[in-house]
Amino acid sequence: MSQQRISNKRGHTILLGGLGGDPHSIGLTVLRQSLSANGYQVRYLGTQNTVSDFFQRAGLTNVVMISSMDGHARYYLREFSTFKREFKTNRTIWYLGGNPGVSEGCERDFIEMGFHRVFVKFTELTTVLNMLERDLEGVQAVARNPDLWKPTSPGTCCSPGVASDELLERQMFESRRREVLEHWKTGNGARNIASNAQFLMRQPSFPKAQAQVTLGHGEILIQPRCGVALIGEQIRLFKNFKRAGVKVLSYQVDSLTRNNNYAGAEEVIRETALSGTSTLNGFPLINHGVTGLRRIALQVRLPLQTRHSARDPRLLAEISYAGGVTSFAGGAISYNLPFYKDYPLAESIRNWQYVDYLTGLHHKLFGVVLDREFFGTLTTILIPPCLAIVTNIIETLLAVRQGVKCVSLGYAEQGHRSQDIAAIRMLRKMTGEILGRMGYKDVQLNTVFHQYMAAFPPCLKRAGELIRSSAITAARSGATRLIGKTPVEAFGMPTLTDNITGIELIQSGLAGASDCYVDEDRVAEECAVIQREVEAIFESIVLCGNGDIAQGVVTGFEKGLLDIPFSPSVHNRGEAMTTRDAEGAVRFLSTGNLRLDRESREFHEAKVNERRRAEGIHSPYQDHLLVERDVMQVAWGRYEHWPLGQ
Ligand code: 5AD
Repeated sequence: MSQQRISNKRGHTILLGGLGGDPHSIGLTVLRQSLSANGYQVRYLGTQNTVSDFFQRAGLTNVVMISSMDGHARYYLREFSTFKREFKTNRTIWYLGGNPGVSEGCERDFIEMGFHRVFVKFTELTTVLNMLERDLEGVQAVARNPDLWKPTSPGTCCSPGVASDELLERQMFESRRREVLEHWKTGNGARNIASNAQFLMRQPSFPKAQAQVTLGHGEILIQPRCGVALIGEQIRLFKNFKRAGVKVLSYQVDSLTRNNNYAGAEEVIRETALSGTSTLNGFPLINHGVTGLRRIALQVRLPLQTRHSARDPRLLAEISYAGGVTSFAGGAISYNLPFYKDYPLAESIRNWQYVDYLTGLHHKLFGVVLDREFFGTLTTILIPPCLAIVTNIIETLLAVRQGVKCVSLGYAEQGHRSQDIAAIRMLRKMTGEILGRMGYKDVQLNTVFHQYMAAFPPCLKRAGELIRSSAITAARSGATRLIGKTPVEAFGMPTLTDNITGIELIQSGLAGASDCYVDEDRVAEECAVIQREVEAIFESIVLCGNGDIAQGVVTGFEKGLLDIPFSPSVHNRGEAMTTRDAEGAVRFLSTGNLRLDRESREFHEAKVNERRRAEGIHSPYQDHLLVERDVMQVAWGRYEHWPLGQ
């Protein structure tokens, strides 16, 4: 790697952003950082832009850099040539990168379209920076134009941003409920809560299965992922998992449904029924409705959960509970910031309060306890435990305020065993303490360990080793439940056989877990670090909301008191940045506006400095290289063994 800083003293301006539907923002975040560190003025548009978003600003910049990750760039760029003629952006240099096309020779097509540089596969940052330097030689920097820097999103400047953590009023809930059930024709099937509750009472319960583990009467629960278009196939998968020893089940909801496009899902279900092969990437719950789901519940006879990341989760929750599902995943922060570019927090809080109220109502009226799970996994990679934990605590408080009695707190393995074990333990401990302090004594707490959630090694042997060792970490952390991966994670969706292989690897890891050495002193050190950080961040949120958690979240994100690295959301500041230390634990490279105390900040600085020294990085202008390596390390297979650190 080059030690030299590639500097840009002329202040050229670069317009940078993602194109089309996909939310991938990790690569963009790293690129944004390195461009800024190298002296460029970067106007960052985030993800999910249209071609028009770029052209409207292209004339005010020297270079436009477009990233497209889902292989559909040609589709998103179909109007590019027309725009190029219309907008007369002759002086602008156009770059296209990411994974713009799936076919051979697509590079030439994009050049013909009018791009100057096209990167069809992963390119090291240093290469991009060198090319940029060359392309801008002798080019005069454009003058700074305030129009370029105007906020893009109406959400950021005009959102009323008012939220409250008060218990919803029954009447208001009922009137919203009438609307929600109208969203799609199957909604009406969920209308009668009393008869839904009667059905639910006879179903195997997610909270009860988890309570067995928490009380020490059972091993950590293994949960595989699956989700297909048709009911018969979904039942077949579930029955096979049950045969393999799995005790709780869930389906992933497909991405059309997640974007509330039920008409689209209906079309694909029809095609699938005709062709026999599922082209949906999950289970289209809304279309199958209460009747479809009850058929599954009655045949499978295991506790069921709905997993999704839907923008509007309300109808999904209604149909889930009415169909016999006893756990529903998601939360106002955790299913917003990692997935959506412009979903105002006040709005997502209101949607999730509806779900929580509905969950609580089942307990209040009928004594049925349902589980609510939070996705502390966030953007999956380089997530420091403190941010995952604070997010879980906030979502728990918002939920219990609406009457929820059982929550599952999520965390994604980062790869450093002591830190991951500490994270799971502190997640339970601190959430419990804070709930206690606020007077909630009757809430069941469970913890969920997600096996490594970022890019996986393509080598099956390595992937298998990762899954097995990760199960050891999960067992030793004391988590209630483990959400598993399969060895084909790097390639796509697992088949039934892949999932069974994954389950067997996990089982073999769990079987050997108690013989494995865990450095409890190191775990205790990490626990102390986490405790200090969580207290500081959580307190800053409570204070800035004047005691109202919901308002604290909205204002807290605006001020950067909460800041999730790599989030594609415009409602997230994106100033906090993370990297691994020399030992592999996740630390803050920059704490942005997070209110960590001096001791915590100095701790992170010292840890990162150690890593910089170990890697021969002498200037903060090269920090992005650390992040780049961390993000890609596992996918590249550039590590010795799993876990990455102990
Ligand atoms: N079937 C199986 N696995 C799925 N995942 C998402 N949707 C499905 C599905 N329909 C898995 C991905 C990844 C995680 C986020 O969920 O493979 O591991």
